[in-house]
Amino acid sequence: MGKHLIAPSILSADFGHLQRDIEMINSSEADWLHVDVMDGNFVPNISFGPDIVKVMHSGCRLPLDVHLMIEKPERYIDVFATAGSSNLSVHAEACTHLHRTIQQIRDAGMNPGVAINPHTPVNVLEDVLEELSLVILMSVNPGFGGQKFIYRTLHKIQMLREMIDMRNLSVKIEVDGGVGLQNAEAILQAGADILVAGNSVFKSDNPHLAIYSLKNLGIQGLYAS
Ligand code: DX5
Ligand code: ZN
Repeated sequence: MGKHLIAPSILSADFGHLQRDIEMINSSEADWLHVDVMDGNFVPNISFGPDIVKVMHSGCRLPLDVHLMIEKPERYIDVFATAGSSNLSVHAEACTHLHRTIQQIRDAGMNPGVAINPHTPVNVLEDVLEELSLVILMSVNPGFGGQKFIYRTLHKIQMLREMIDMRNLSVKIEVDGGVGLQNAEAILQAGADILVAGNSVFKSDNPHLAIYSLKNLGIQGLYAS
């Protein structure tokens, strides 16, 4: 399969051994480190803030793919730029002035992304698509790792792929939530470019091999679970 990217989600790591888990990522075939920031307001859960992101940035050799699940994320754009984010994604549902927020992210020197929840149709992106580096299609309701993939997402991937290709854009499609070897090929075939993987990497017996297997789909029999 093609040149898809793998972004392990640090939310599923062992925070008591954060540096050890980041070293594992550093020596793997992962492309980005996916970093979930949650405020206990936009989503029910609270994860960590910019100081911890800064620590991740100093230990990780990969670009940080920061996914803000917070209300009014425009308040924190500069803080996350300083913390070392390469990509900064905000939720369409959390932004009143989404177009402006996207410009602010780009002006702060990061690649802007917009995430949409499972219930949000892809057509909310119609008038901002040209401005984006990536779209995160949530395939679970955000807030927690380890949830079940919502299969309706496959249809959304296809629709977004068509929108992007029709306009000849290079916006990347990232799929986030419940991704593993059982569904990765279908997700990529639908048109995704980037797979986020939390539990399927960190809760596996061999996280290194799990990343390798997601990256090298199609090479059979590498990893069974
Ligand atoms: C969910 C987060 C995801 C999560 C994915 O709110 O945005 O990035 O960490 O974890 P898994 O792959 O376990 O669903
Ligand atoms: Zn995420």
